[in-house]
Formats: sequence, C-alpha cells, structure tokens
Amino acid sequence: MSVYQATTSAPVNIACIKYWGKRDTKLILPTNSSLSVTLDQDHLRSTTTSRADTSFDKDRLWLNGIEEEIKDGGRLATCIKEMKKLRREVEDKNSNEPKLSTFAVHICSRNNFPTAAGLASSASGFAALVSSLAALYALPASPSQLSLIARQGSGSACRSLFGGFVAWEQGSLPDGSDSLAIEVAPQSHWPDIHALICVVSDDKKGTSSTSGMQRTVETSPLLQHRIKNVVPVRMEAIKKAILARDFDSFARITMQDSNQFHAVALDTDPPIFYMNDVSRAIIALVTEYNRVSVENGGMLKAAYTYDAGPNAVIYTPKENIKDIVSIIVKYFPQAEAFKDPFGLFGAQGVGEG
Ligand code: PMV
Repeated sequence: MSVYQATTSAPVNIACIKYWGKRDTKLILPTNSSLSVTLDQDHLRSTTTSRADTSFDKDRLWLNGIEEEIKDGGRLATCIKEMKKLRREVEDKNSNEPKLSTFAVHICSRNNFPTAAGLASSASGFAALVSSLAALYALPASPSQLSLIARQGSGSACRSLFGGFVAWEQGSLPDGSDSLAIEVAPQSHWPDIHALICVVSDDKKGTSSTSGMQRTVETSPLLQHRIKNVVPVRMEAIKKAILARDFDSFARITMQDSNQFHAVALDTDPPIFYMNDVSRAIIALVTEYNRVSVENGGMLKAAYTYDAGPNAVIYTPKENIKDIVSIIVKYFPQAEAFKDPFGLFGAQGVGEG
C-alpha cells in the first residue's frame, strides 16, 4: 500500500512596506502592494505535514496539536480546495497518476514560536500549508503560482513562499490572478542584513488583522492618502535601495512605513493601538542610536518595524547586532536569555563581557 504524505516548512516574513487593507475580502486582494524580508532562520518557522488517504472521511487540520475547524467556504477550506483543483489538472493530464484529489487530507502544523502575537504566524502557517500540499500532490507550480493560493489563506502568507526580499504586487484584475508574490532579490544578494526580534509580549493580539483592516478601510481618510500617494513611491524606492544594498535608504523607508501603518491604525474609528509603551521606548532607543551615528557623519545603522502587535523587529547589518543587543538588554530587563545564533557574546552571555 502506498503512503501519500509530505512535510515542508515555511518561514515568517516581516514587511518593510506594510499590507493593510483589502479591496476584496473573499479573494484577499489588497488595497496596496507590500514588500517584506523573509526571516530564513530555524527558530521562526511553521512545519506542516499533509497526508492523503482513502480511509480518511473528511479533511481535518491540527495546529500545535489542537484540532481547528475547517469551516465551509472559510480560508482553510479555500486553500485546500484550490490545491486539490491543481492536483486534478495533473491527474487529468496523466491518467496513471493516483487520484489524490479525491482523497481527504489530514494536515498537522506546528509553529516553533508564539502564535498570533504579531509575529506573522499566519504568514508562515498558510505558506507551509500550501507548500506541503504542493509537495504531497507533486505539483509543477512555481512559488508565484502557489502564492496566489497562500494569499487566500492570509494575505501576507503569499510573501513567505520566497526567501530574501519579496514584493506582493497588488494587481488590478478582479479575479486576483495578478495579485501575487515575486522575488525582488534572494537573501544571498544582501546576506549582511539581519533581523533582531524583540518579543515585548507573546500574548494573543487584541484586534485581529482582519477586523482591524476592515475598520481602517471603512473609516480612515489617512489610509486613502497612503494607498494613492505614499505606497507606490515607497515600493519603487525600497526596491532600488535593496538592489543597490543601500541600507540608509532601506532603513529610512522601513521606519517611515511602520510609523505610517501605526498612524493609520490610530486614524481608524475607533482607534487601534498595536504598540505599547515598551514598543515606543524601543523606537526611541533606535532613533537615538541612529542620531549619534548620523551626527558623527555616519549613516543609519538600524531600522525598527512593528506589525499588528507590540513586538519590535530591528533590521541591521551584522556588525551592529552586538551594540544593539547590549543597549536593549541594558534598558529592558530580560525575562528570557537572548538567543545568540552568532555566538557574539561568547560563553558568558549578553552584557557580561
Ligand atoms: O496577512 P495578515 O492578514 O496577517 O495581515 C498582515 C498585516 C501586517 O503584518 C500588519 C503587515 C504585513 O504586510 O505583513
């Protein structure tokens, strides 16, 4: 008897130009293009196993060991249905292929970091779901094609199908067939850029991105200005900065866009607050760190960005990580030890040497 099973994993991505607002809530078509960096590290990933079997009576899914309901017409059901459709095309072309599209699937997914705390768990989760089904079904689809389906699970998930620097082009077609992710540059183009994650809180966030976005689209005049006049210019400028490995411009645009996203949240009626006092204090530290560098004739050295939660992501070239971690640890007592993948602080740990 054959076993039809595949396991894949997908990383988190953190946007520098934020996606915030849908023009079509069912197809998940955004009101603006966005751009992110995929965090290709082992400790921020979703790993998903999919199995198709004639003995299964219905599609089922477990997230971190707990079964989630697959609601008819919901996002999980849509992604699974679309993947089965692609499998059917393979089976129609080659009648020797087993009819996996007619089997139910069981899907088991795990995140190795806090779920729904503004650390983009839905992005890695839906990207891993789609890529594990693509592997199970041996689909000849490109990451951009798969991104069209991951997007219908969670918008930002479409960007996690690529590593490196990734754009989600908003597209203009009503069926969403041109609203997909493309690679701007692979990670190897600019390997010196690293992301430092400061987990301010791993509680579940207060306002989900889905309801937050809807309220912003309905009530914020600032969002209209952002999508018409600001994002198109920033998308071009940040792509140029990435291709030129120009960290100063990359950092400036990233921080401006994080600030505007949170301004748009505040401009929503009633307002949405994703950052807290600790988040704002980290902004002040990074701003001060950059100010000292610029006043001494240098460039920006670090860029903060915040998604729909209080946790900071700080992009910086590797040479500054030790500095920044030391400053953060000095001002904020750590509940947990700093995870030091580069061994920057030696055996003694942070702040000792
Ligand atoms: O894909 P969603 O629905 O989780 O929305 C993500 C929104 C932000 O993380 C705030 C921005 C982004 O582009 O990732």
